[in-house]
Amino acid sequence: MSENNILVQVENLKKHFPIIGGMMGRQIGAVKAVDGISFDIQESETLGMVGESGCGKSTAGRAILQLHKPTAGQVFFKDQDLTQMSGEDVRQLRPKIQMIFQDPYATLNPRHSVRKIIGEPLIIHGMMKKGSPELKDRVAELLELVGMDPAYMRRFPHEFSGGQRQRIGIARALSLNPDFIVCDEPISALDVSIQAQVVNLMQDLQDQLGIAYLFIAHDLSMVKHISHRIAVMYLGKIMELTERNTLFDNPLHPYTQSLNSAVPIPDPKLEQNRKRFILKGDPPSPANPPSGCVFHTRCPLTVKKCIKVKPEFREMHPGHFVACHLADEKGGSKISKQTILASEMS
Ligand SMILES: Nc1ncnc2c1ncn2[C@@H]1O[C@H](COP(=O)(O)OP(=O)(O)O)[C@@H](O)[C@H]1O
Ligand SMILES: [Mg+2]
Repeated sequence: MSENNILVQVENLKKHFPIIGGMMGRQIGAVKAVDGISFDIQESETLGMVGESGCGKSTAGRAILQLHKPTAGQVFFKDQDLTQMSGEDVRQLRPKIQMIFQDPYATLNPRHSVRKIIGEPLIIHGMMKKGSPELKDRVAELLELVGMDPAYMRRFPHEFSGGQRQRIGIARALSLNPDFIVCDEPISALDVSIQAQVVNLMQDLQDQLGIAYLFIAHDLSMVKHISHRIAVMYLGKIMELTERNTLFDNPLHPYTQSLNSAVPIPDPKLEQNRKRFILKGDPPSPANPPSGCVFHTRCPLTVKKCIKVKPEFREMHPGHFVACHLADEKGGSKISKQTILASEMS
């Protein structure tokens, strides 16, 4: 990974969906799906993004790519602010910024051959002609790149397993030589045994082609191996963002600590002593987020300030960002054995 070559920069990005109601069909509120997130992604870097279902990960991915028009904030791609560009200008950039999805079956047209599916973006963007030998060669090359037999190009999506379909989805996203791919839970629907294969493939492709990924998942174990850095989201906000190892070894936010405690440790001895901290209840609704720190209703460490004052997302150590009032104090944001016991009693 090259240092300090920022490819994507997200500044205070928000996406609020209006809630329409009443007799007059007026806007009566908003779902604050993404509520002011900031981070950057370097060239050839993988930024993992994790958080429970509904916390705004997909909306963030789509808003970054301008598939949802952001409510506020900026998204720079190589110094160009995508939020200020016309639809046509974003379309021109589309080859460089791609997306892959959780369920490739839902996004691969069942009536199209693999050849058509993978070749289509090249035709749409006017790079190759339909039926041309170059197009066929390129599709064969892309299939090989994702570890599939080029002869498969005559087949149809239903003839493949989930893992193979995800490879086809990846080949399609790669067809235009992107610099950046938003990967929205690309392994969540796959068998555990297949997940590692797809992650390895994506890592190999990154090494070969220098692509940057925003890699979205709902639990830490899925982003652990592929991410250089990890952002933890809760209710539309980033709670913590830091290097992968720091996030696992020294998580400062109580929410990260709870997610972390759910990840099994391969070493049986360590696994036996693993402290588990299971959060109670479901996250609150993003249409009516809690005051102060949005995590305060589920946090075992909540003090008065957390209920009243929004914590800033600030850099506690170089490159280690956290939004928690208690992180200021030494060990103040750490969940201890006592905290776990106390919360189990209550
Ligand atoms: N098109 C939409 N219109 C209204 N609300 C939406 C829309 N898309 C997502 N939401 C809401 O935004 C919140 C975040 O959703 P999403 O980004 O899909 O979360 P995640 O990907 O983390 O599961 C949820 O409350 C969801 O119901
Ligand atoms: Mg999602």
